[in-house]
Amino acid sequence: MKVTFLGHAAVSITTNSHTILIDPFLTGNALAPVKADEVHADAILVTHGHGDHLGDTVAIAKRTGALVVACAELSGWLKQQGVSVHAMHLGGAHEFPFGWVKFTLAFHGAGIDTPQGMVYGGNPVGILFRADGKTIYHAGDTALFSDMKLISQRHPLDLAMLPIGDNYTMGPDDALYAAELLAPKAVMPIHYDTFELIRQDAHAFVQEVRAKGIQAYEVKPGESVKI
Ligand code: NI
Ligand code: MN
Repeated sequence: MKVTFLGHAAVSITTNSHTILIDPFLTGNALAPVKADEVHADAILVTHGHGDHLGDTVAIAKRTGALVVACAELSGWLKQQGVSVHAMHLGGAHEFPFGWVKFTLAFHGAGIDTPQGMVYGGNPVGILFRADGKTIYHAGDTALFSDMKLISQRHPLDLAMLPIGDNYTMGPDDALYAAELLAPKAVMPIHYDTFELIRQDAHAFVQEVRAKGIQAYEVKPGESVKI
């Protein structure tokens, strides 16, 4: 499995047979190495309705025919936009042709930014994804919470993607603690440097995670990590 960082919280996952996007915020993402009309997707997983996560989901799904997987309330809105959706919710898992998906807790907001204003979007989620025998965790936007330990006890992780930007999500200190709770085989920081307010020293964070005996990768936008 190959995980390519697209800047902010956007990643592209390449399995032996499929391409899956998580939180494809590309238009307006100065760090994005690809444009929304260039990316391939068989499926799009969305953690919540904020613009920097929902991003280009509708346009990409309409162009590619990708199935969009999101929590029930966000799925309802996406369906109204004319894309094919699969609704899930917290704690639920489902086996798709492209892999296994489970939604985990995330502590954050979930309103959908629309031209008409903020629409109710249900709960924000974290995402567990498994394919090719590997399990990865995208925390979405979240605060640190002790039940992260439960996530990896139930599903040992090959990779954890954790926000480090602070202000809206965990900062580096809490993300370091999260890495210890999750004890994954590797950590990849996300949700930083996109805006001035969330500028962070990812290199220092990665060094601190490694000092705890956990592998960590500073993946620049456009670069990939193989797990
Ligand atoms: Ni958010
Ligand atoms: Mn965000």
